[in-house]
Amino acid sequence: MADRRQLERLLAELAGFEEPRLDLEQYRTPPDITAHLIHVATLNGDIAGRTVIDLGCGTGMLTVASALAGARLSVGIELDSAALATARANEERVGAQGGIAWLRGDATRPPLDCSDATVVMNPPFGAREGNEHADRDFLRAASELARVSYSIHNAGSRAFVESFAGDEGGEVTHAFAAEFDVPRQYDHHRDAVRTLDTELFRIRWD
Ligand SMILES: C[S@@+](CC[C@H](N)C(=O)[O-])C[C@H]1O[C@@H](n2cnc3c(N)ncnc32)[C@H](O)[C@@H]1O
Repeated sequence: MADRRQLERLLAELAGFEEPRLDLEQYRTPPDITAHLIHVATLNGDIAGRTVIDLGCGTGMLTVASALAGARLSVGIELDSAALATARANEERVGAQGGIAWLRGDATRPPLDCSDATVVMNPPFGAREGNEHADRDFLRAASELARVSYSIHNAGSRAFVESFAGDEGGEVTHAFAAEFDVPRQYDHHRDAVRTLDTELFRIRWD
């Protein structure tokens, strides 16, 4: 099984979004953040032998990483069929072992009957106008599917995430900051790479 460094190296080989869609806030989760998140989850016993569900899996970064880290089954759910095609190609690219299933559908209303999975996700932050609470619907889905979830949010989300988790019977057990590099990919992007301040949370839902 890949350790943190090996995992990051393998993930760096994965392709990004071919034609990223701004309306869906398609930004690939960086390999270093993914490797860190999956490493923390592994140390907490939340990956090996477990069912891991990636809500809004995009290029499959978190799904493939959890499979490489020993999940029994990794499920990636995504609305966009083009992104799912990239995710499938990425699975083959690194020869991820263990079961991976890709589902096309709305991750905020997941077509799964499950309550004790590990959810990993980098949901839309709700940065676009009219989409402000996008991550709230993803957290609600996580609360229904998961015993524990790991999610990436905009910096400054801690009070919101703690309060949401508390209302749904959950508890934030870990929180850490991460710098999220976004390469230029949309017309409004000016810099070659822009670094966003983000926060990662582990929430126990049972
Ligand atoms: C920030 S990106 C996540 C990227 C992914 N972790 C990766 O590394 O490629 C958010 C993803 O959520 C997807 N998405 C947005 N709304 C969705 C929904 N309601 N159901 C399923 N996927 C959704 C987007 O298409 C996008 O791929």
